[in-house]
Amino acid sequence: MNLTEHIRQVVEEAPRIPLGSWPTPFMPMDGLRSSLVREQIACPRLWVKREDLTPLGAGGNKIRKLEHVLYKARAEGADVLLNTGEVQSNQVVQTAAAAAHLGIPCELFLGRTDPPLSEDDQETGNILLCRILGARIHLVPPREDRGAAMRARAEELKAEGKKPYIIPRGSSTAEGALGSLRCFFELLEQADANGFVPDGIAVTVGSSGTTAGFLVGVHALALSGGPEIPLYAFDTFGTDYPVQAYDRIMEHAEECWSFLSLPGTCGDRLLRLSCDFVGPGYSRPYPGMIEAVRQVARSEGIILDPNYTGKCMAGLLDTIRKGTFGPSQNIVYLHTGGLPALFAMRRHFA
Ligand SMILES: Cc1ncc(COP(=O)(O)O)c(C=O)c1O
Repeated sequence: MNLTEHIRQVVEEAPRIPLGSWPTPFMPMDGLRSSLVREQIACPRLWVKREDLTPLGAGGNKIRKLEHVLYKARAEGADVLLNTGEVQSNQVVQTAAAAAHLGIPCELFLGRTDPPLSEDDQETGNILLCRILGARIHLVPPREDRGAAMRARAEELKAEGKKPYIIPRGSSTAEGALGSLRCFFELLEQADANGFVPDGIAVTVGSSGTTAGFLVGVHALALSGGPEIPLYAFDTFGTDYPVQAYDRIMEHAEECWSFLSLPGTCGDRLLRLSCDFVGPGYSRPYPGMIEAVRQVARSEGIILDPNYTGKCMAGLLDTIRKGTFGPSQNIVYLHTGGLPALFAMRRHFA
C-alpha cells in the first residue's frame, strides 16, 4: 500500500460524527475565466470546490473538522461545548450549529476587533446566527483575554459537575486536519471525474488546519509517485498574530504527518505561501479584496467573504494576472465559506 492509500484508509476509518452531506459541490468558474480573458489575460480553467455549502448553520470549512473534533469531545463525555473567537468568527457559528444539531449546549466567548468592524458588528452577521442557534454568548471586552474567560467558565462548570469541552481555535488539531484531508481526496476525485488533475489548488490560511491537511495530501500524493500539485496558500491573519503563517502551517502539517505515522517529514516543497493579501490586517478590508468579491459575485453568482475567501481570491487573481498559469491548466479554488461576516462590513460594499 502506498502512502496515499494508507492515508485514505486512515481518513476513511477515523471516527467522526457525520455532520454533513458529502461530497460538497464542485463546479467550473467559466464566467470568472471569461471576465479575465476580457482583460486580455491568459487564464487557466478555473474551478471551485464549495466547502461553503456544508449543510449546518451558514456552511463553511469547519464542519468537516468538527466531525472529528466533536467525536473526540463526545467520547470524552462532553456535555457542554466552549469556544472563543471574534464576534464575526465563522468557526464559532459552525460550532454553535453543530452543537445545536447534536443537542449539546454551547457557550461562546466573543470579542469585537479593536477598532470594531462597524457600529453594529455585535448584532449582525455571525453573532446573530449564534444567538438564533441558541448558543449562550459571553461578550468579552476587546483587550481582555477571551481564552482566560473561557477557561475560568470551564472550571466553574466542572465545579457544577458538568463536563465542558473546549474546542481548539479553528478546530485546527491533528484530528481536525483529517477532515481537511477528506476534503482534499474528495476534490481529487471530482477533478478526475471532470477529466483533469489540478495544476494548482488555492486555499485560505487562517488558523491553518485546512492548508496543513491539504499540504499533507499533496506531499503524500507526490511521494506515492502521483502528480506534484502546488498549493497556493494566502494568509489572512497577518503579522499581528503571534505565530506567523508559515510556522502555523508547518507545525500543523508535521503534527498531522506524525499523527498519520508517515515516514520522514511533510516539508514545504509544494507550499506556495503568500502573505501579501492580508491588507491592513486581520478582518480589515481593502480595495483589492472588495474588487475580488465583486468580480466573483458578478461573473459567477457566488458570494465570497471579506475576511478570508475574498482575500484569498484577491491573491489568486493577482497570481493569474502575473501569468503564472497557462490557458490549458486547471486551477481549483477552495471556497471555505464566511458569507455572514459581509453583513458586518456592509458600508465597505455599499
Ligand atoms: C471562511 C473561512 N475560510 C478559511 C478559513 C481558514 O481556515 P483554517 O483556520 O483552517 O486555516 C476560515 C477560518 O476561520 C474561515 O472562516
